[in-house]
Parts: sequence; C-alpha cells; structure tokens
Amino acid sequence: MCGIVGYVGEREAQPVLINCLKRLEYRGYDSCGIALLGGSTEVYKDAVRIEALEKSLRPNDSQTGIGHTRWATHGKPSEANAHPHTDCTGKIAVVHNGVVENFLQLREQLTNEGHVFRSETDTEVIPHLIEKYYEGDLEQAVSRALVDITGSYAFIAIRADCREVVASRKDSPLIVGIGDKEYLIASDVPAVLDYTDRVVYLEDGDTVVITSASIKITRNGEQVTRAEDRIPWSVDEAQKAGYDHFMLKEIHEQPKVIRNTFAGHISALEPEIDLDMRKDIDFDNILILACGTSYHAALVGKHVIQRLTQIPVAVDIASEFNYSDTVLGNTLVIIITQSGETADCMRALKKAKELGCHTLVITNVVGSSATRIADEVLYIKAGPEISVAATKSFVAQLIMLYLLALSRASADVRSRGSLIAELRQLPNKVHEILDREVEIAEHGRYLARYESAFFVARGINFPIALEGALKVKEIAYIHAEGYPAGELKHGPFALLTPDTPVIAIVAKDNTYETLLANIKEIKARESPVIAIAEEGDDEIEKYVDFVIRVPRVDPIFSPVTATVALHLLAYYTAKERGCSIDTPRNLAKSVTVE
Ligand code: F6R
Repeated sequence: MCGIVGYVGEREAQPVLINCLKRLEYRGYDSCGIALLGGSTEVYKDAVRIEALEKSLRPNDSQTGIGHTRWATHGKPSEANAHPHTDCTGKIAVVHNGVVENFLQLREQLTNEGHVFRSETDTEVIPHLIEKYYEGDLEQAVSRALVDITGSYAFIAIRADCREVVASRKDSPLIVGIGDKEYLIASDVPAVLDYTDRVVYLEDGDTVVITSASIKITRNGEQVTRAEDRIPWSVDEAQKAGYDHFMLKEIHEQPKVIRNTFAGHISALEPEIDLDMRKDIDFDNILILACGTSYHAALVGKHVIQRLTQIPVAVDIASEFNYSDTVLGNTLVIIITQSGETADCMRALKKAKELGCHTLVITNVVGSSATRIADEVLYIKAGPEISVAATKSFVAQLIMLYLLALSRASADVRSRGSLIAELRQLPNKVHEILDREVEIAEHGRYLARYESAFFVARGINFPIALEGALKVKEIAYIHAEGYPAGELKHGPFALLTPDTPVIAIVAKDNTYETLLANIKEIKARESPVIAIAEEGDDEIEKYVDFVIRVPRVDPIFSPVTATVALHLLAYYTAKERGCSIDTPRNLAKSVTVE
C-alpha cells in the first residue's frame, strides 16, 4: 500500500525523503510527492516515478518534510491526486496511507463551510479538517480532526510555521526511526534503515509529535511511553547487491533463508524441534487464514500438519473468513502473513480473538501489527523482502509450517528423525536448482510467447500450481490458472489448444500415476506440457515436451523444490516480456486496505 515518510533533523530533508521513498516504492508507485517546510510549505509531485520527481526538485535546505508513494484507492493516479495534499492556505500538508471511509460526508460538510478541494482523494479532507481546527497548535488540531475521521489511517502532517511533524495511526502501520538529533516516521522499516536501526513501533490510536530534539507520543490525550527496539535487518539486506532485480536476489537468498528459519529450532543432537511455544494450549483442530501467496503456504501447511499430526486442519482466505459464519470450536487459528500488516489478515486475527480462539501468527516482520495482537508469534527469518512478488518469504513460511508440524508429530511417527535430517539438507537441494538457472531461463523465454497457461498438480503440490500461476500472472501478465490436475476435465479442457501451455508439477508420491494419466489427456488436446519433475524420473520424458529437473526429496518437501523452479520460471518469463518485475502494475506489497 502507500508508503509514507516524515523527517525532522539536522540534514537537508529533501534527499532524505527521496531516499526513503525509493526504499518504500514497493508499497505503491502510482505517483509520489514530497512537501518541505519553509516560510511556506513547498510541495512537489509527480504522476509516476520517484526518479522523475527527484529531477524536478529545486534546491531547498529545509530540514523538515514529508513524502508519499501512492497506491491509488480513491481517484486515479494523477498529479492532482498525488500526495501530499494541502489545505486552503497551502500551509498544511498531509501524506496518508489508508482509507477515510466517511470522506464524502466530510468533504460535503467542509465544502459547505467554504473549503476548496483540488483532488478526488479521500485524503484531502484531512488537511482541511486540520485547517478548520487549527488555533496555533498543530498537535491539538490533529487530535480534533481525528475525532471526525472514520476509517483506517497512518498520516503525517506538517504546517509551515511549526518545526515539528505530527503523525497518527489506526489500522495502518507507522514506525518512528530514532537517529542522532533526527527522527524519521515511516510506514515501514526499510525506509529508515539507511539512517538508523533504532525504532519505536507505534500502537493503534497513538499520535506522535517529533522535533529534531524530542519525541512525544500520546493516546487519548495522555502521554505514553513506547519501548525502543532494534531492527534485526541490515542495510545490505535491502540492496539489490548486483542483481538485476530484487526478485532474483530474493530467489537466490532462499538457501540462507531456509537455514535461518530452522536455525535455533532444531536440536543439534536429538531429532527434536523446539519452537518455544506455549505447551498448555489445548485445541482440537486448526484453522489457517492468509491471503495470496501466504494462502498457498497455508494450503501446503494443511497437508503437512494433517499428515504428521492427524490434527484436522481447515484453510480459508482471510478476506472470505471475515464475512463468513465459520463455526469455530476449540480451534487454534494460525494467520500467515509475510508483512504482518495485511488488512484482511488483521481483521481475521481480531475476529478469531473475539471468537475466543488462541491465535498464532507466522510472519517475517518483527514488531508488525499482527505480532501485537496475536497470542503467539513465530518469525520466519526471510529478511526484508522488497520485490512485490513474494518468493523467499513463501519458502520460509513452508519451512516454519514443516517445523510446526514436526514439533507436534506424534513420537511414534518413525520417519520424524529422517524428515528433520532431510529438512536440514533442503538448502543444498535449493542450491542445486539455482545452479540450473540458465536452463530454467530458457523455459521462461519459451513460456513468454504465450498469453494463457495452466499450472496443474495434485495433492500437496496443488497449492504450488496455484502459486506458479499467481507468479506468472502478477509479474509476467500472462493469464494463468492453477488447477488440480483431475479437475481440468470438468470444464477447463475446453480451453486447451496448442497455444495453451500446461506446466505440470510431478511429484513421486501417491498421485504420480493419476497425474501421468492427466498429462496424457492434456497432450491428446495438443497443449505443450512442461513438467517439473525430480531427477531419476525417466518415465515422464515420454509424455511431455520439456522437463525442468529438481532434486529428489521426500515428497512432503517437493513443494519447496518445485516452488524454487517455478519462481525462477516466472522471473525469466517476465524478463523476456520486458515487464516491471519488482513493481508489477497495479500491485503493491503489504495490502493495508480491505
Ligand atoms: C504475491 C504476493 C501477495 C501476498 C499477499 C499477502 O506474490 O506477494 O499475494 O502474498 O498480499 O501478503 P502478506 O503475506 O504480507 O499478508
């Protein structure tokens, strides 16, 4: 979603804001803008990219300012709708992430009171409300404006003659970076990494006022203190490190990410897993909720947990659960969310808590909103994921789900020790796939010429078919559908032609023979077939056009190896098509609106 940033300190604010916006670009890139404090508030905007905005800037030595990179909700991407938005006097400027739900009503009311609006956005009501209530104290004016606003927000406000920055949050993330005689406010940790690793995570309902020398946080008018935390990520982790795209770098980081995620949880001597979770929680079944790629991890998790623990597991898309009458009993609710900020997940988490369930969040981001609400948290150790398309975080989520299932596997599951041993070997197996990058790139160039594709699999790999299709859709703009291989004949067969390639994920498990039969049916309709198949499976060569080889693993881990191959395939398909890989059109990371 939109990225927002504010700065006050002893440096020139302009380059700091531009640098922070570049780091936040993955949250939205429909338009961008900054406002700098001086005798007046100077506003610069661009309808598209930060580089263009940067070139348009005049020298300005202001040491206070705010910035925004937009993912459009209300109003199309345009210069008029780009933030910052100002009041009638042009002195107050605001950047906002979220949705002001009652903006139409507020806009009408403010218009009747004489305020003049220049954009179609919901945000613009905020500076006008602050203007209405301003009586010489920006913080007080913001507090009074907040009473009128319903919806979700993280916003930052400045006013020409006050050398301070005021910000507030409700249901949208906001952090304060603490530097040496300087403070930054931002919607996300990577924005401030170049300047500090000290942060304060604001809570819902907090308002913060920063100057170059002070920070004051209030809640319901009362001053509160919030603990300072250290960011566990380094600046280097948020750089491209010579790769063409963050996505490729993040795919290549997967062996390390897998190792980091299981490190500390697997005992060196015994085949035991310790996740440091509460042992006294009793539950009869599990419900896993997530969105997008994380939902695909949840679907794999269902197979793994049921197989190893015999605990019944259901999975739902978080946004669907939120409007359903799902009956929960003695249920453990697990939310999987890379960002820990996804609005649909946050709502699902709150609903599960209201229903009295014990909640566990699996996330990548320390201090994220979900971690503040859930009863328990498990961190995947993927490091900052900058590419909008999730890759390494997905694989890390799978690893955490394996650990969770293995930690609960009944002691008499004889294979537990050997599965743990194999889990330890996964980084090496992933390396072997990365070594085949050149070959997979060739298949990507082949796939790039088609406009429609199917991804099929059975059983534990069906979610990986969904994931392969999602990646090709979102970064290569090819219409792709993930299907259980057995379902194609119930309708989608009508779409199979020589122009509709099918990518089949073929694991050597109990689905193998039937999947081969499905592939033969597909070939009979003349669709080209690419198989992702393990080494040593010579049989598959007879039935498909191309084979992408992955190392042999226990079938329970085949989702990991297939995923790495599919992520590379999607990357090279998108590259061949000249797509904007790290920042695909219309998408943004961390979707903080419902
Ligand atoms: C796709 C992708 C998205 C996210 C989804 C959930 O590549 O990244 O589908 O998986 O928006 O995000 P989180 O996991 O942050 O809740």
